[in-house]
Order: sequence, then structure tokens, then C-alpha cells
Amino acid sequence: MRKKIVAGNWKMNLDLDEGAELVNEIFKGLPVLSENCQVVIAPPFIHLKETGEQLTGMIDVHLGAQNCHHESSGAYTGEVSAGMLKSAGVEYVIIGHSERREYMKEDDAMLAKKVNQALTNGLKVIFCCGEPLEIRDNNTQNTYVESEIKAGLFHLSEKQLNNIVLAYEPIWAIGTGRTATSEQAQDMHAHIRSVIANQYGEDAAYAISILYGGSCKPSNADELFACPDVDGGLIGGAALKAKDFLGIIEAMANS
Ligand code: 13P
Repeated sequence: MRKKIVAGNWKMNLDLDEGAELVNEIFKGLPVLSENCQVVIAPPFIHLKETGEQLTGMIDVHLGAQNCHHESSGAYTGEVSAGMLKSAGVEYVIIGHSERREYMKEDDAMLAKKVNQALTNGLKVIFCCGEPLEIRDNNTQNTYVESEIKAGLFHLSEKQLNNIVLAYEPIWAIGTGRTATSEQAQDMHAHIRSVIANQYGEDAAYAISILYGGSCKPSNADELFACPDVDGGLIGGAALKAKDFLGIIEAMANS
């Protein structure tokens, strides 16, 4: 059975005290989860050590980072390598988020290198894809997302794919309060699974977790997670409030 995952991407929010408090509250409210359910918390780099220490003993909650550099080391002022993340106890890294593609000009070739760095250093990857509004309006979202997945992942072996989680995040739904309908989410997730099946076969496609991201909150999580190809969520704004994040985790547990 493939994993269900709710991952919180804090983006550039919360200072150290606020972050520690949030993790503490999540810890207090965390429901008992079945074996195939996982929670990931991806705070800014500076939180990682402390958050990791807080997560010790919380077997269902895993530590994630929001980015890594595409080279292993060197003169890249201000950057953090996948090896450094691993040494800090990180298990997952988000790669290809639309905010990094847009604001940091991360292109397909760089993202493929980041994926390689992450896997080489024993990290699991949450690889993001998703179309901007004009692509959705032209109804060309399927080919757009397919090309992001091909460019970022298709150089990997089937074995390497075991360490990849996909996240479909329609850009027009991120932080906008506008969510994809469950039908739009299901259609795209099924398409993504077929893209994986064409390259890697049905078994690999069945096994890979595909998360939905974009204004996911407790009030819509039940409906989204009920879709057969939606295996959880990558959560931004609602991951910053314990009550909301816990509500989404509950929705995963009940789905
Ligand atoms: P929001 O949940 O704030 O829309 O953000 C989604 C996201 O980008 C998670 O990576």
C-alpha cells in the first residue's frame, strides 16, 4: 500500500521560538496514525536541528528541508548542500517548488541535478510540479506538468523512484485561497500516475505517493484526500497553525 503523507512547508515563516512552539503543539495534538500515514515538517534551514531534536520519539513525524543546492560543496555563499542536510538528520527535501522555479530561476536542468544530489546523499525527495493560471486557462496543463516530471525525474532508475514523492501544486491555487476542485485534482493526479506508468510501469506508478498542494485546509482536505489518486497534501499557510495542520492530518488519517 502506498504511503499517505501530509507535509508542512513553512516557507520563510516563523522565528525559532515560534517554530518550536508550533512543533510542540503539533506533538500534543497528534492523533495515532496507521503505519501507512506519515507527517513531514519542512521548516527553514535554521530550524532544522532544533525541530529534529523535538521530533525525536515522534515516529510518525519526519524532518524535511525546503531546498538543497545542486552541487555537493564549494564556493556557493549562502547555500546548503544535500550532504549537510543529511548530517543534520533531515529525511526529506522539497525540490522544484514553483516559488523557487519562479523567484530563484531554478530550471529543469538544475532541478534534475538537485534530485541527484538529494538521492546520492540518502534523502527522499518531494518533487513539485504544477501549472500557472494561463496554462490552465488554455487547458494545456497535462502536457505542462508532464514535461516538468520528465525533465526532473525521468533520468532516474525505477529503484531510485522509490525515494520520490510527487506533489502537484497548481500555481494558481498556492496561497490564493482558491483550491483546485477535487475533480481537477483527481484528473491531474491520475494523469501524473499515467505519466509515471508509461515510463516506469504500472507497479511503480501504483506505488508512488502523489500529494496535492494549494490552499489545502481542514475544510477541504476530506474531499481532496477522498480522491483515489490523491495521497495526502503539501501544505503551506495551514501548516503554520497547529489546529489547522492537525485538522489536515486527521483528514489523512480518516481517508
Ligand atoms: P498554500 O497551502 O499556502 O497554498 O501553499 C501551498 C504550497 O505551496 C506548499 O508547498
